[in-house]
This record gives sequence, structure tokens and C-alpha cells, in this order.
Amino acid sequence: MKLFEKFTRAKWIMSGRENDRACSLPPETFQKTFALDKVPERARLFVTALGIYEVFLNGKRVGRDLFTPGYTDYKRRVQVQEYDVSSLLRTGENVLEVTVANGWYLGRIGNKYNVYGRRRALLLELDCGEVRVATDESWEVTADGEVRFADFYDGETIDLRKKERRFAPVCLFDGPTPALVPHTGAFVREVGVLTPERKGNLFDFKQNFAGVVRLKVRAKEGTILTVRHGEILMDGKLFNGNYRSAKATLSLICREGENEFCPTFTYMGFRYAEITGNAPFELLSVEGVVYSSEMARRGTFSCGNEDINKLQSCIEWGITSNFVDIPTDCPQRDERMGWTGDICVFANAASYNFDTRAFFRKWLADLRSEQKDGCIPVTIPSSGMYESNKRHPIPLMTWGDAAVVVPWNAYMNFGERETLGESYGSMKACVEAERRAAAKRGFGDKKFLWNGGGYQFGDWCAPDTSWAGWTGRGKHLATLWFFNSVNIVRRAARILGRTEDEKRYSELSENIRAAFLRHYLKEDGTFRHANFMSMYVCALYFGILPEARKEAVAAQLARLVLKNDRRVMTGFPGTPYLLFALADNGYEELAFKVLLQEKCPGWMHMVRHGATTTWERWNAIEEDGSFFHGGAGMVSFNHYAAGAVGDFFYRRILGLEPLEAGYSRFAVQPFCGPLTHAEGSLMTARGKIEIKWKKGDAFTLHVTVPEGASAEITLPSGKRTAVTAGEHDFAEPLACMLP
Ligand code: BGC
Repeated sequence: MKLFEKFTRAKWIMSGRENDRACSLPPETFQKTFALDKVPERARLFVTALGIYEVFLNGKRVGRDLFTPGYTDYKRRVQVQEYDVSSLLRTGENVLEVTVANGWYLGRIGNKYNVYGRRRALLLELDCGEVRVATDESWEVTADGEVRFADFYDGETIDLRKKERRFAPVCLFDGPTPALVPHTGAFVREVGVLTPERKGNLFDFKQNFAGVVRLKVRAKEGTILTVRHGEILMDGKLFNGNYRSAKATLSLICREGENEFCPTFTYMGFRYAEITGNAPFELLSVEGVVYSSEMARRGTFSCGNEDINKLQSCIEWGITSNFVDIPTDCPQRDERMGWTGDICVFANAASYNFDTRAFFRKWLADLRSEQKDGCIPVTIPSSGMYESNKRHPIPLMTWGDAAVVVPWNAYMNFGERETLGESYGSMKACVEAERRAAAKRGFGDKKFLWNGGGYQFGDWCAPDTSWAGWTGRGKHLATLWFFNSVNIVRRAARILGRTEDEKRYSELSENIRAAFLRHYLKEDGTFRHANFMSMYVCALYFGILPEARKEAVAAQLARLVLKNDRRVMTGFPGTPYLLFALADNGYEELAFKVLLQEKCPGWMHMVRHGATTTWERWNAIEEDGSFFHGGAGMVSFNHYAAGAVGDFFYRRILGLEPLEAGYSRFAVQPFCGPLTHAEGSLMTARGKIEIKWKKGDAFTLHVTVPEGASAEITLPSGKRTAVTAGEHDFAEPLACMLP
């Protein structure tokens, strides 16, 4: 049955009250009482809202899902959730209560508020067979609930004191309503609980995460507790100057005796919480409740180096805390938006660790719905905040390339052709926009060089320069990303049997290559006008260099790395590929030295300075332990882009590469470097792949190939073996390995 047919009589209803600039309209509770002669065997509830909602049936919460209906491009579509509620019904009188809060529809996003509208609305239908209950003029609404204020950035105010609720009749919503679509994303839920360590009124959860605190407290009526959140301590005190305008504060007003608080209409990104009160109170328990899009665990990785294992943990927590219905840049400050560049570089690392299928499928539908002339907004869904050129959108390197890279990564990971098919049009539109942008500004073969015209984020967060340097590098990197995207679309066209397109993009790819080599590459393997790490990395990794020229370019990259004392100097566009560019081109040892570099900038610098998630800036904490920019401003301690290195753990340290999408055929070729052992696994459609290698008296490798799959194994000596399903053991003398 089509979704809209499930709403046979429901009408969008509202209170009619408008949200203000401070987004202070309290959450509103819609209520309806209805009678049942008997409890039906099957009762389905269909519900959605403009705002985020929570449903209670006879006082019990329906489902475990948070922030529903989820964040979609509300201008066009909103998801509908469906619940089986038969067990919550009773004979006689039943009460449905639905509280709707701001969420993304209203509320603050970036520097905007009420992006999609000023009034909340609800649409619900309960199908109990003979009896149907649906939102209409007979419902009532109140703003006198316990939650007095709720907004993602600023937090929640909850008042548990008894108070009379005054209900008023609802009105029908007369604003524009988006199309109803079935829920396809991963549900945001409570996925874990952390127990803090207490020092006075400061609680350390030992982990940077997204969620809330749940606390039980005994206090006198009217006592107000204030909970502040922070990622770091400064001089032993909670510091959150880097949250910028996000207040991320809970105000909890107690009734007499025992109280339990657990906000469900907001979340924060934090490691520390400070709990104070305006009167004495007794804390009975404090927990950190982890909120995240629930996804099954897919891969595991560990190795003989504890720092790398800690980094792997940072990466996993980066996913848990930034996959909150959409892929956010960070969970703490006044952003938490679906920044496209961040997920473009991180999507693959995420999919090695978690089953991201549903999550990306939903997000990619929004990406497609917001694409215009092939270009996508910088954040998806778009708040409009950064869309200065709405009428003439320009393609953006890396950020815009998410339209190509994210669906392709999903396809390679999970092998689902239909999903690739769904995105193909959008992928193609993206490279066509880049092609047009290149052609517009260049003559002769320069029309294949996309110089990134207009504003580009470029080599964002590269530690050897600053904002102007990052953006300035965009014009050089853009051609390489253009080349990469064209090649991906060429491969996708081949898979989908689009022969014409395959030919078109093969030609385009060769033209870009020729122009790039002619105008950029110098005899000695350096690049004209562009002597920075990401440039070498992307040129090597994206395959634009002919075999004969690779050695010289790789040598220049190695020289640059050594000149920088083996520190990382890449921004978002180069970071995921730095270690691959080295290791795959004869510099495996150097790649590991960069990975294990403890000085700043480097991954182990973060780990050694207590990171529990990867940072936005390599030098968020400087070598001397001080905070960049005093810790304030654009200094997030939970940004997953640098964690894109996690790819290298699976694909090189374990050596696991798909030879066919979805791993029906795969390669295993471990790069061991100085490590003594590593092991990991990956769940695929055919079953679990397991890899375990060790340097003992000899090098030993164990590989499990799932039923119906096959693998090509390459040992350190270069010896190759093809294997089919089953358990396989290999060994060879250590002498075959790198020194
Ligand atoms: C975000 C990013 C994003 C960038 C784009 C920042 O404010 O946090 O991670 O990609 O802006 O410039």
C-alpha cells in the first residue's frame, strides 16, 4: 500500500503558535482520548511531524526512536514512521499524547532559525481495524508540558513540578507540507551508556560523544540544576568556548523528592559535564547516554600498536557521535550540519566499521533532491546558510564531489547495484557541472583543467597554511578531484551498462589527464604553482600519472614529507590518501613513520594528547599542551575528517581490498611496516571475512573467505595465491619482509 493511503483521514494539525528568534516556543503536546471495545490484534500507528516528535500511548513511549521524523529536505520530503502499538492499547479509554519540539524544522541551524517554517505541525493516524484515530480538529494541544524549552544547540529546560496543563483546540495547518516518504534512514536511538568519574561537580565520561546526561537527584521542590557540557578542561575547569553560540545547557527544575531527568529533544557533543544547583541537592546517579544513528557493527580492526588501536577507537567514536540522522561535521558547536566535504572524505572509513547502508541511502536521497544544475549545497540538508550563490550554484571540489564519491563508496562496500542506479543521474550531473565549469574558463586543452573558479574550501585545515592558503589551493586540487570523479562515473557507467557514457567519460578522463600533465607536471616530478602535500597525494592516489612518471612524483612527495619531519601537512582533500600515496609507491616504511609520528601535526600527536575522537585541526592542542586559539572558535575535538585514515587500517594494514563491489572477490595483501601483528574482520553479504597476521618465528597469515566468495592473497614476498571459500593459512620466512 502506498504511504499516503495509510493516512485515510488524518489532517495536518497545529497550535498556530509561532517560534521566535530565540527559538523559545516550548514543545507542544497534542492529545486525543478515544475508546476501544476490545484491543485489536493489530494496531499500526503512522506518524510524522514538522518538528521532532515523541508519542506516548497510555503513558508509555511508542518506540525507541529519537528525533523522528529525522532530518530531510523538508522543503520537499518528510519521513513517516510506522509502529506496531497493539501491546500499548487497552479496552475502554485510551490516551494518545504527542509532543512536538523544534528539531531541525524550526530551531537553530548554523546562524539561521525557523529555516523551514515558524509553526510546528503533526500528522498521525492510528489504525486499530474498526476504529481509526487520526489528527483532525477534534484534537487538543498544550504548551504546558514538563519540557519548557528544547533546541539542539542550546539544550533543554525541564520542569518536573506538578502543574495544571491547559489544553486548547488545535487548528488545521495551512502552511506548505512536504511529500510524505517512508522512513528509510537509520533510527537515532540510545546506543550506549557511559559511567563518569566524579571530581566535585565535574563529571568526566572519559569519552567524547554525542548524547545527554541522565540523572537522578533528590532535591527540594523548585531546586534548579544547571548542567553545562564541554569537550575539554582548561585549568581544571570545564571549557566550552569552542561551542561558539551553542549554549548546550540543561536547566532542570526539581519537584520535591526524587527526580529523573533525561532530555530527548536535544543532544550535545561532550566529554565533561558540570552539574551545579541553586540549592543543595543529592545526586543519586549520573550517566552519559549515547545518542547515535543505530547501525550494525560491520568491521573490526586491531593491531600490535596500542596507539593505533586508540586511533581506531577515536574513529569509531567519530562515527557514533557524528552519524546522528545525518553525517555531521561535529556534534558540539553551532553547526552539526551535513557538511558534504567531511563525509566525502570519511564515508569509506565509516562503511568499513558500520553498516551504513540505510543511513546513506536516506542522506543521498536528500543530496539528490537538493542538487541544482549538478551542484549540491555545502551542507545537506541545506540550511541555506552558506548558499550565497543559490541562483548560479558552482561546483565545489571535494565538497561537491560527495555527490559522486559517497554513492560510489557505498556501492563498492555493499555491492548494491540499485543504490548505485538511484544515484547515477546525480553523479553524472555533478561531473557535467565540473566539466562545464572547466570549459567556461579555459581555452584549448585548458578547458579540461578545472581551476576551481569561485570560492573553494580547498585544502581545508592543512596545517602548513591558513584559511587563505587552504582556499587558494582549491584551484589546483580541483582538477585532480574532477579527474577522480569523472573516473568514478566512468566505472559506474560501465557497471550500469551505459556504454555511451562510459565512452564519454573515458575520453574526458584522458583529456583531463593530458592537460594536467602538460600544464602541471614538471620533469623532476614537482608541480607548477602547486608544491604542497595534498597535491602530490591526490595526483598519486587518483591515478592521473602515467606509470613512468609516478616514481619521480612519489620521490617528491617523500622529499616533502621528510622536509616536514614526517608530519602530516594535508587538509581534508589529501588526508585520506596520504599513507596510500606513500605506501603504494614504494614508501611503506615512511607511511608508517608518518602514521606513528608523535609530533604535531600527526595522528599520534592527537592520541598522545588524550584524543578520544579525532580533531578538526591537527594542532587543536599544540605540542606544548596549549590550546589553539585559546581553545575558542573553530576548534572542534570531534571532527571525523582526519579519521579517514581508518581506511588505511583495513585496506593496507589488513590488506583487504574489494576486487568486486561487495567483496564477492577480494584481495588480501597486508602492509605490515613495523607492526608485529594485526587482525580484523568485515561482514559482507556473503558472510564474514576474517584476516589475522603475525610476525613470530615466521610471518603467518590466516584468512577466512566466506561461502561463495573468492580471494587473491599476496604475501610479503610477493607470492600470490588464489583461494575460494574456507579457512586458509599461509606462512613464509620473516626474511621476505621489509626491514
Ligand atoms: C565545518 C567543516 C566544513 C567546513 C567547510 C566548517 O565550519 O565544521 O568541517 O567542511 O566548515 O568550510
